[in-house]
Amino acid sequence: MDTEILRPTAPADFERAAGLIRSGALVAFPTETVYGLGANGLDAAACTRIYEAKGRPSDNPLILHIADLTMAYEIASDVPPIAAHLLTAFAPGPLTVILPKAAHIPDIVTGGLATVGVRCPDNIIARHLIRAAGVPIAAPSANTSGRPSPTTAAMVYEDMAGRIPLILDGGSCRLGVESTIVDCTEEGALTILRPGAVTREMIAMELPHVIVRMDNALTAEDEAPRAPGMKYTHYAPRAPLTVYVGAGAAVENALRDEVLRRRAAGESPALIASNETLTALRAIVPAEHTYHCGARGNHSAFAACLYDALRRFDDLPVTSLLAEGTGAVGLGLAIMNRLRKASGGDIIYV
Ligand code: TXA
Ligand code: MG
Repeated sequence: MDTEILRPTAPADFERAAGLIRSGALVAFPTETVYGLGANGLDAAACTRIYEAKGRPSDNPLILHIADLTMAYEIASDVPPIAAHLLTAFAPGPLTVILPKAAHIPDIVTGGLATVGVRCPDNIIARHLIRAAGVPIAAPSANTSGRPSPTTAAMVYEDMAGRIPLILDGGSCRLGVESTIVDCTEEGALTILRPGAVTREMIAMELPHVIVRMDNALTAEDEAPRAPGMKYTHYAPRAPLTVYVGAGAAVENALRDEVLRRRAAGESPALIASNETLTALRAIVPAEHTYHCGARGNHSAFAACLYDALRRFDDLPVTSLLAEGTGAVGLGLAIMNRLRKASGGDIIYV
């Protein structure tokens, strides 16, 4: 199968993409977080193709994407007031709410669960596509299972060429990390299952009288996560990754020692770090083995380039990756969650 990359401009482009969705085919599309791999969310056979194209385990449910909030009431059997409040505050935006599912949603979408993930993306191409298709679009991130999520059409093409007919190109994703997943099925409390750009702090400000919990698995390593997908190896670059976290000077020193040690051992490490750290270490790391993640402490800049950084060295003669982590508050919590998974937990606090 040939895979076309199309920058949609005219209504006819959306009609064509929507026609593919309605006919049961897969179409990748941009969102403000990462690219999604879309199928008609009411068509079990089409959704099965998503699992095949990604190599994804079938117990890992898909998120249904909607164009406006009224569609939420068609796919959930109930939208509790707290969930409705969250949606009006943060949608369209990087938020997925877990709600009890409506009876007509296929089991393949929800991995057999009684709940369904619902998200209204803040991206005009995504919403035009959903509206033109006239159905909720089931879409996981458009990467091969286990790989870093794609944030450009070219990254989707790397993983999906020959597997899907069409990629809608909307340029680089604005945020770069997947949506915040919030379980809204418990009365009077919310649980964050995956951190994202809608932060716990933002939710607590919006709903001051509601208990906002973090899924235990986000803090305790031995807990089984409640978002099935969070248990799998994820976001992994080809070379093994180690993450360093601490104050600026301490991280620079630790990274300097480790780079020198690895080079002395005949290895060729690459460095993913803040501009400040890479300036400090420029004498010992060749420029082509560095990835600049923006000014230290600029979490938005880091999130936006994180998956590009994790893919950048895949085809270069690099034997290992060293990265500078961030503080784990606000958007930093989402960044550190992804780095923890990408490194298999190899995080060193200095
Ligand atoms: O930003 C995003 O959410 C992107 C874009 C494309 O919208 N999508 C995305 O999908 O990240 P995916 O499939 O890569 O991650 C969805 C996560 C998985 O960890 C899955 O287990 C969890 O959401 N999930 C989906 N439905 C669920 C449910 N009913 N209950 C608990 N977790 C659920
Ligand atoms: Mg994913």
